[in-house]
Amino acid sequence: MTDTEATPAGDETLEQQLEEMLEIETFDPPESFVEHALLSDSAVYEEADADWKGWWVKQAKELHWFTEPTKDLNDSDPPFYKWFEDGKINASYNCVDRHVEAGNGDRVAFYWHGEEGESREITYADLHRDVQKFANALKDLGIEKGDVVGIYLPMIPEVAVAMLACARIGAIHNVVFGGFSADSVKERMEIAEAKALVTVDGARRKGKTAPVKQQVDKAVSDLDSLKHIVVVQATNADCEMQDGRDVWYHEICDAADDECPAEELEAEHPLYILYSSGSTAAPKGILHTTGGYLTGVAATHRYVFDLKPESDVYWCSADVGWVTGHSYIVYGPLANGATSVMFEGAPDYPHKGIWWELCEKYKVTLFYTAPTAIRACMKWGVEHVEKFDLSAMRLLGSVGEPINPKAWLWYYKVIGGERCPIVDTWWQTETGAIMITPLPGIVSTKPGSATRPFPGIEADVVDESEGKPIDEGQGLLVVTRPWPSMLRTLYKDDERFIETYFSKFGKETYLVGDAARKDEDGYFWIIGRIDDVVNVSGHRLSTAEVESAIVSHGKVAESAVIGQADEDVGQAICAFVTLEGETEGTDELVEEIRARVGDRIGKFARPKRIIWADDLPKTRSGKIMRRLLRDVAEGKALGDVTTLRDPDVMQQLEGKIKEEQASEQ
Ligand code: WTA
Repeated sequence: MTDTEATPAGDETLEQQLEEMLEIETFDPPESFVEHALLSDSAVYEEADADWKGWWVKQAKELHWFTEPTKDLNDSDPPFYKWFEDGKINASYNCVDRHVEAGNGDRVAFYWHGEEGESREITYADLHRDVQKFANALKDLGIEKGDVVGIYLPMIPEVAVAMLACARIGAIHNVVFGGFSADSVKERMEIAEAKALVTVDGARRKGKTAPVKQQVDKAVSDLDSLKHIVVVQATNADCEMQDGRDVWYHEICDAADDECPAEELEAEHPLYILYSSGSTAAPKGILHTTGGYLTGVAATHRYVFDLKPESDVYWCSADVGWVTGHSYIVYGPLANGATSVMFEGAPDYPHKGIWWELCEKYKVTLFYTAPTAIRACMKWGVEHVEKFDLSAMRLLGSVGEPINPKAWLWYYKVIGGERCPIVDTWWQTETGAIMITPLPGIVSTKPGSATRPFPGIEADVVDESEGKPIDEGQGLLVVTRPWPSMLRTLYKDDERFIETYFSKFGKETYLVGDAARKDEDGYFWIIGRIDDVVNVSGHRLSTAEVESAIVSHGKVAESAVIGQADEDVGQAICAFVTLEGETEGTDELVEEIRARVGDRIGKFARPKRIIWADDLPKTRSGKIMRRLLRDVAEGKALGDVTTLRDPDVMQQLEGKIKEEQASEQ
């Protein structure tokens, strides 16, 4: 138990202290931290800028290559960049074999902690054994280099094993976050033409077990391209195994050979596809390749988290199904030989202090989470934190959405005990690795700013019309140099890749899709998405995806979805819904629509608020004006509505919102 002297007992005093701290503009890296930091000299920025390709080559050399690359960047056909293209490498070898060969086989790779309190220690030697077995089992199923393998698993160690086994044989994994519905899994397997899917019998969540295999069966029954379903027996939930298609993970592993040498792959061999949301309903298959991606995630993981693999215990609380999990639970930490915590459950089960209990138990030193989780913890109260000893903690990270200064300060004070630097890391599925972030031993932080680009990265804020740099004020965030871990394309859709990211300002300027501003010190402040992408609890969703799920309900004629600012989850989904004919909007229908979205996409995408609308505000060309919907939903005064086909629509909607507010009071 901690000595709580340093932290005030009551939330009220804490509240006052946080208010006072809001006055502090910058926080210098703590001296005690700087003293031992891997990087503490700001010259690293100049060094990397002076020869940015050379800087990345230096980072690539930290990895194991079967054949060292002699080439750095091939930019002969922008925006299709290639990195280290004549090198031969394997991600699984780098994440596992290398550490075993260096004598670190006994080092724990994952301290896994289950929902009901179970724990497992998986060493690098264990990973080495399991990954080889499963890689051979995949080969026995007929999976070959270049084939796509779907992975739909909860947070159990097998998820990392499955990813690494694919990487070992050059199969391309396509992980779907466990919170997505089986219908989403089907969609993602279908577009990627996955040959096999690795899933579980059931997944536990807060004391309940979801029958995952049964749901998957229903969704994929007519998917001919999917030849095999591998089932991890995680919960003993009821499930049927279809002869000729379904196999148990443990059985095929038992039957497989022990040794599976890692394939010597070209640096540009695809490592994975990860579907992410864009402006349209169809998710984008973001494609990452091997050498550059691994270079980016390993270098950022080492320097942003100041990782000392021999002594640190690192915990990234994300789910492996998102890019944060790919890069900072699996590839970055394992490439660096780190010891991590992997937690199966939710932050409030079995109790609201479970994260901090685990931090105490495993003596976590580096902790990486999302602002939405920090805000939830703030709400639950410091008493859930204070019971535990967090004195081993030495650095905190944030990712996924802008962190509001109050949450930053709470994190800094309550979790970090005012001695841990905070790294607010900005990046995306597309960028593969962290792009804008403080280096914790060098850069002074300002709550709410991700500070400056990582060495070697060049970013800017430009004006919308001409793409000219803006020194002060808001504009569009762009990245102006290629970087090794950048996406290579959208799977089987080069055109959409160019159109989405490289058409606005040319093939050399990557359009991020976020608005940002730079301050007088050159610090970046990320404002949020400029496209129709919403960020719910750090989960990326497109409004079009949700709309298409809503209109798939037979009684719905039309829908428009917006992200509404929300104290807890950052942005909450608010749906305006026009019903068919004379249908009345009832509470029952609200539940039906929410359930429909849950089935189609996943529970996290269900609208928080549904507003019945007789009609939606459209321009004369028929485009829905979401800006007006955002204003009306937030009770703001309406601006100019004269460009609307039918300006009366807005008045009706305003009336509805007032009625809604009146009935809530
Ligand atoms: C947002 C998650 C502000 C941003 C790694 C970006 C952030 C989108 C931050 C990518 C941050 C991520 N500050 N905003 N530190 N990190 N974002 O692809 O809008 O799931 O474009 O990747 O999250 O979400 P994605």
